[in-house]
Amino acid sequence: MKTLYLRIVVTIFFVMILSGLLAFLMSNVYYHYYLKPYNDKKLTKMALDIKGFYEGNSEVRINNYLNNISKLGYQILTVDTEGNKTFYGGTFREKKLDPKIVKSVLGGQVYHGIAEFPTTLLVTGFFDNTLNNTIGVPIKTNKDHFALFMRPNVQLQFGELRILFSIILLLAIVLSILFVLISTRYIVRPIIKLTEATKIIAEGKYNVQLQINRQDEIGKLAKHFSYMTRKLEQIDAMRQEFVSNVSHEIQSPLASIQGFSQSLQTKQLTDEQRKNYLSIIEDESRRLSLLSKQLLTLASLDKEESILQKSSFDIADQIKQVVLTTEWGWRNKDLAIDMDLSKTIVNADKNLLHQVWTNLITNSIKFNHQGGSISIQMSNKEEMVLIEIKDTGIGISENDLPKIFNRFFIADKARNRKESSTGLGLAIVKQIIELHHGQIQVYSKEGKGTTFQITIPKM
Ligand SMILES: Nc1ncnc2c1ncn2[C@@H]1O[C@H](COP(=O)(O)OP(=O)(O)OP(=O)(O)O)[C@@H](O)[C@H]1O
Ligand SMILES: [Mg+2]
Repeated sequence: MKTLYLRIVVTIFFVMILSGLLAFLMSNVYYHYYLKPYNDKKLTKMALDIKGFYEGNSEVRINNYLNNISKLGYQILTVDTEGNKTFYGGTFREKKLDPKIVKSVLGGQVYHGIAEFPTTLLVTGFFDNTLNNTIGVPIKTNKDHFALFMRPNVQLQFGELRILFSIILLLAIVLSILFVLISTRYIVRPIIKLTEATKIIAEGKYNVQLQINRQDEIGKLAKHFSYMTRKLEQIDAMRQEFVSNVSHEIQSPLASIQGFSQSLQTKQLTDEQRKNYLSIIEDESRRLSLLSKQLLTLASLDKEESILQKSSFDIADQIKQVVLTTEWGWRNKDLAIDMDLSKTIVNADKNLLHQVWTNLITNSIKFNHQGGSISIQMSNKEEMVLIEIKDTGIGISENDLPKIFNRFFIADKARNRKESSTGLGLAIVKQIIELHHGQIQVYSKEGKGTTFQITIPKM
């Protein structure tokens, strides 16, 4: 089946036909087991009433009497002892009747043809206009003796009712077909819209407007779809910005390497100039190498949590080590280091956390004033550990504060060029902390200093 529309329509019709058939079968069963005996009893009583009346008033002319009764909605047959048959009311469809039955009725038995009518699945016996399907009673007066067989004249009793029910049924079928065709279109339309929207998005156009205001599952789907579209748009924009940042970051050191190596080849230079140029080339290539390393880290962190290689280690010890390895930097700036760290075992990725402390501590050295200070404090909570790295450096402006975790963000570009910065450090830090289900917060005042607070779960 090609379309959802067709599938729903066919399914509903199938269900309608199936339930119609089942309802017919079930009502048939109901007729055979409950209504048939009841009907038989009712008609037997009526036949016995006729018999009783005629036997008590034999001066009544039998022909007139039975004619009148048949006009009230009954089909009647009388068979006398000679075998002469007289019909009253409409004719029977099937006029065969076993002579044994006639004989037994003439002999005084009551014939329960309605109750004995064979139980079949698809014929509602009630409507079967045959002589077998009758009640037979013997009638005997001093002037005559015959068997009387009777059944309701369905045509007369239910004729217009049948037409009415047929019209109702027909109308119900036609109208439900019509409504199914229309309402299914209403159900399916948003799905068609969504499909078209996905096509547009696949082409890279994110500004699709979905006009679906429904509260049901499809409405929810549309809402989530719009949300996803907005997210995709953001990711796409971020990706473009990232690529242009990366190319720019690669382009500028390459251009300066190119420029200086050309000068080295073509110009007459003093020894000192040459040394200076070469050291710039070295610095720039180091920058490039650092950049590619950081980009690789970011790419691997982007993947998933599963890249974490967790082990148990003392986090205080690790931070102390980082402080030691950056000693050259803080001694050079004459910074006072104040540490309060107690042994705390955490289960985390050792290499990645090492990068976190390295970046945060080098930042607090890099952005500090000569003779400033750095304080590193730790407090243990039950399941978490909180680390605070505070410096008395240049601080971050209120404007820049929300951006410092963005990739390639550097507050004072001109100044940081000298410091071999890429602006990827804090982006990596944040990613690592979040992979560990921790949090990082920053408080800063321009000119006063900056505080980074990190909480990570111990387990
Ligand atoms: N302790 C701090 N004091 C003042 N400014 C800071 C501090 N830490 C970060 N910043 C600001 O946030 C920016 C981004 O920091 P991040 O660590 O991401 O980059 P970076 O240190 O410049 O370069 P990288 O770490 O990649 O070598 C910095 O350039 C700086 O402007
Ligand atoms: Mg940094």
